[in-house]
Amino acid sequence: MNQENSASRNFMLTAGLWLLIGVSMGLILALEFVFPDLFSGVPWLVFSRLRQAHTNTVMFAWLSGGMIGLWLYIVPRLSGRKLWSETLGNITMILWNLAVGLGVFGILNAYTQSREYAEFIWIIDVAVMVTLILNMINIYMTIGHRTEPKLYVSLWYITGTVIWMPLLYFIGNVMWNPPVGALTGINDTIFNWFYGHNVLGLWFTTGLLPVIYYIVPRETKTPLYSHFLSLIAFWGIAFFYTGVGAHHLLWAPIPYWLKTIAVAESIGMILPIIAFMMNIYLTMRGNWNRFMTSIPLRYVVTGWAAYILVSYQGSHQALRSINLITHFTQYVPGHAHLSLLFFAASVIMGGMFYVIPRIYNCKLFSRRLANVQYALYVIGFTFFFGGFLLTGLVQGTNWLHQGLPVWSVLPGLRPYMALRATGGILLVISFFMFTYNIFATIINREKIVEPDIPKSVMHEKPLTVAN
Ligand code: HEM
Ligand code: HEM
Repeated sequence: MNQENSASRNFMLTAGLWLLIGVSMGLILALEFVFPDLFSGVPWLVFSRLRQAHTNTVMFAWLSGGMIGLWLYIVPRLSGRKLWSETLGNITMILWNLAVGLGVFGILNAYTQSREYAEFIWIIDVAVMVTLILNMINIYMTIGHRTEPKLYVSLWYITGTVIWMPLLYFIGNVMWNPPVGALTGINDTIFNWFYGHNVLGLWFTTGLLPVIYYIVPRETKTPLYSHFLSLIAFWGIAFFYTGVGAHHLLWAPIPYWLKTIAVAESIGMILPIIAFMMNIYLTMRGNWNRFMTSIPLRYVVTGWAAYILVSYQGSHQALRSINLITHFTQYVPGHAHLSLLFFAASVIMGGMFYVIPRIYNCKLFSRRLANVQYALYVIGFTFFFGGFLLTGLVQGTNWLHQGLPVWSVLPGLRPYMALRATGGILLVISFFMFTYNIFATIINREKIVEPDIPKSVMHEKPLTVAN
């Protein structure tokens, strides 16, 4: 329980297993769009339950578990000391997995609050809140007792994220109102989407940018280009993201001014995005050869590129004129996968490829497998995303410009949905390869020991220094 790095490792390994369950659920969903009767009569696999189970498994069990595991590795390195309490970290890990596991099991059995990304029932919310607070304490105590005087950029982001999330979770899940965990009418929608967007912006985004800020300098052996730019990005995200929730509700009967603020802040997001984009781009300058040679860097930089793309897409999609066509179509889940899959999952995979061999001081089990996985991942994602995008645009234009009813458009969508399912199969294979590679690294570590990472690197001074 108190072995060094054990909490970080256990969070990441359990997340790697959840990934397989979560994406298999996604594949079943994608197949159900092509063959609607495929699993008829099986209540657990009915679309409405499985969709919620998919989103909660991938977002909380896989992405959040992997992300917390990465923090528990990065924070001690940047603080120049061990994690404050490995035991507390492991207790948090067990509670987290139990809470989200039971939550997803509940959803599959129709125990849900049916509020997007806040589906877990009240008692599960309580367990999630406890783990978020325990994790916050561990991270704050580690940073509070640091020996490294500088507060590195990555630590800014992580300290912000771990305090924002419990607040957001409490407010968004209306936890003071048990057992329903909801308000009534339109107010509930506003609360739901205040949380719904901030779980993306102030949990996954601010939780994963620090991983990029940590790994890119380390893998290129180049200090981060600018501390100043990273702070513009930090405060820009903290300022603009908090008010964008209503861009999910541009056609709902909420106050017009609230929508206008949301649109304006969505456009304002371009500022921190450019600051972040340039900072990493200029750190990578002269180091692009490492993109092909370093596996962790390749995945992390892919995540960086996806983040830039999805943010520009998001800012456009928040404009009323564009949202009029894309809202309620498959274009939006396309955006969701460009962000949470191609951005977030890429960064987490890159992070795990970096951290796991370092924890065990051994080589990665197979570089070739990681290379083949990357090819499948990118090709698979291209088809998958293309399928979402085309389906969405055909839906939106047919409904709006042709005035066609929803049902009459459906048969024409099937080829695009099949394209998405085909890309999805490649993606799922690539995720299985990933988890296999990570576990094989640990299982075969005796046979593939050293000489990859000299021991001195384990406690090397971080390169995320300020200019
Ligand atoms: C500048 C940044 C961004 C802006 C302006 C933006 C904008 C938007 C808008 C307007 C929607 C709603 C579309 C609709 O319902 O019609 C949306 C949905 C979504 N966004 Fe973003 N986005 C941004 C970045 C991100 C990032 C970084 C993530 C993930 C980490 C993300 C994840 C999502 C998800 C999951 C949805 C789907 C929500 C749902 O279930 O309806 N977005 N975004
Ligand atoms: C890391 C991996 C993944 C993440 C983080 C993820 C995340 C999400 C999210 C957030 C949504 C809700 C989108 C929205 O409401 O706008 C969603 C829905 C969905 N996902 Fe995934 N997903 C992943 C992998 C997959 C895979 C591999 C497939 C298919 C093979 C897939 C298929 C689907 C489908 C079909 C939907 C339902 C779309 C709809 O309701 O219209 N997902 N996923």
